[in-house]
Amino acid sequence: MKQHKPGRGVAIVGAGMSKFGAFHGLTGRDLFVDAFADMLASVDKGIDPNDIEALYIGNYSSDLFEGQGHIAPIMAEWVGLTPRPATRVEGACASGGLALREGLIAVASGLYDIVLVGGVEKMTDLPTARVTDTLVTAADTLYEAPAGFTFPGLYAAMATAYMARYGATPEVLMQVGLKNHAHGAMNPKAQFGQRIADLMATRRASALQKGLPTPNWADEMAFLHDPHANPVIAWPLRLYDCSPISDGAAALLLVAEPLAAQFTDTPIYVIGSGQASDAATHSRSTLTSLPAVQRAAQMAYQMAGITPAEIQVVEVHDCFTIAEIIAGEDLGFFAPGEGWHAAQEGLTARGGPRPINTSGGLKSKGHPVGASGVGQVVEVWEQLRGQAGARQLPGDLRLGLTHNVGGTGQTCVVHILERR
Ligand code: COA
Repeated sequence: MKQHKPGRGVAIVGAGMSKFGAFHGLTGRDLFVDAFADMLASVDKGIDPNDIEALYIGNYSSDLFEGQGHIAPIMAEWVGLTPRPATRVEGACASGGLALREGLIAVASGLYDIVLVGGVEKMTDLPTARVTDTLVTAADTLYEAPAGFTFPGLYAAMATAYMARYGATPEVLMQVGLKNHAHGAMNPKAQFGQRIADLMATRRASALQKGLPTPNWADEMAFLHDPHANPVIAWPLRLYDCSPISDGAAALLLVAEPLAAQFTDTPIYVIGSGQASDAATHSRSTLTSLPAVQRAAQMAYQMAGITPAEIQVVEVHDCFTIAEIIAGEDLGFFAPGEGWHAAQEGLTARGGPRPINTSGGLKSKGHPVGASGVGQVVEVWEQLRGQAGARQLPGDLRLGLTHNVGGTGQTCVVHILERR
C-alpha cells in the first residue's frame, strides 16, 4: 500500500464533550454549544474563538432524527463562527471520525492553521422503532433492510458466525458489557454511569418501593440471563449487548504543529490516520472480521510508524459487544479467534494489560452516532494528558488509538494520537 504522510504536523490542543444521554427538551445545537464550551475550557492557555478558521462536523441524520438538515452552518452560527466555512461530514456512525480526518487533512495541507472538529446527534426525540428505521438506512436498503435486517440483526449475524467459527459464547459477550459498564461508572459524562451491580440494586429498590416482588438475582450473570431484566434484542444479542439510543456532542480544536505551544504545553499529535470502505455486509466473504478496519488500521500504523503492541490507550467502536471483540482482532491486538479469550480473561479491563474503552465505550458512555467518533478522541486525549480522573490509566502514556465504524464496516476510520 502506498504510504502517505501529512504535509505538516497537526496537534489537538482542546477537547470537550457534552454529557451523553437522553435529553428531552434539548436540541442538537444545545448539545454542540455545551461541547464547544467544554472544549474551550480545556485549552490550557486559552483560545480566542475568532481565530478558528473552519468547522468540520460529523452528523449522521439530523434530517430524520430532528427534522433539520444542513446543520453545519447552524452549528457554526450557534458557536459564533459565522461566516467561516462549515462542512457537515456523513459516514453513518463513523461521521465523527471522518470529520476529524477532514479537519486533519485541511490543517496538514496548509489550507488552515486552526480548525474546529465536532460531532453531534440528537436521537431520542423519535420512538425506538423510528430510530431503528433511520439507522438501517445506513445498511443496504436494496437487499438488507427489505430482508428484515436492523443493525442489532446484522451484528447478531456477525456474533452467530463468530461463535460458530471460534467457540465463543453469549456469556463472553456479556463480559464485555459488564466491563464497559464498570468503566462507564467512572465517567461523569456517560449515559449509563452505573455498574451492572448498581443497576441491579436500583431495580431491587424500585420494586421494593412499589410493593412488587423483589428480584433475587444471585449475581450479575444471573441478572444478564434474566429475560425480563435483559431481554433478547436479536439473538444472541440482548439489551446489555447493545449501545443505547443517545443524544450528545463532542468537539476538538486542531492546530498546525508550529502553533501548538501557543495553546498548551501538552499538545496531542495526530500521527496516524487511516480510512477504508467496503461492500455491504451481505456481499462480503467474511462475517467474523471487518476488512475495512484492517485496511484503515494498517494505513494508520504505517503513517505513524508504529505497531499495535505500542498502543497504550484504545477506544473502539463497541456498538454491540461482538463489535468490540472483533475490533480487538482487526486492530492487531489479538490473533483472529483470540479476542473472545481476552474478554473472558479480563485482559481488556482497566486493570488488564490491554485496556479497551476506559470511557465505558459506546455501550455505557452512549452512542449519539455522529458524535461518537469525536467522543472517543476526547477520552484518549484526556488519558494521554493524565486528565481522565477516576478512569485514568497508570504509567507514562504516550500512544493512543481510536477506531470508528460506519454501518457494519462499510466505512472505517482509525486515528493514532501521541503525547511527546
Ligand atoms: N443498554 C442498557 N439499558 C438500556 C439500553 C441499552 N442499550 N437501552 C435502553 N436501556 C434501558 C433504558 O434506560 C430503560 O431503563 P429503565 O426502564 O430503567 O428506565 C429500559 O432499558 C427500556 O428503555 P427503552 O428505551 O424503552 O428501550 P428500547 O427497548 O426501546 O431500546 C434497544 C433498546 C436495544 C432496542 C435500543 O437501545 C437500540 O436500538 N440500540 C441500538 C442502537 C443502534 O443500533 N445504534 C447503531 C449501532 S450501528
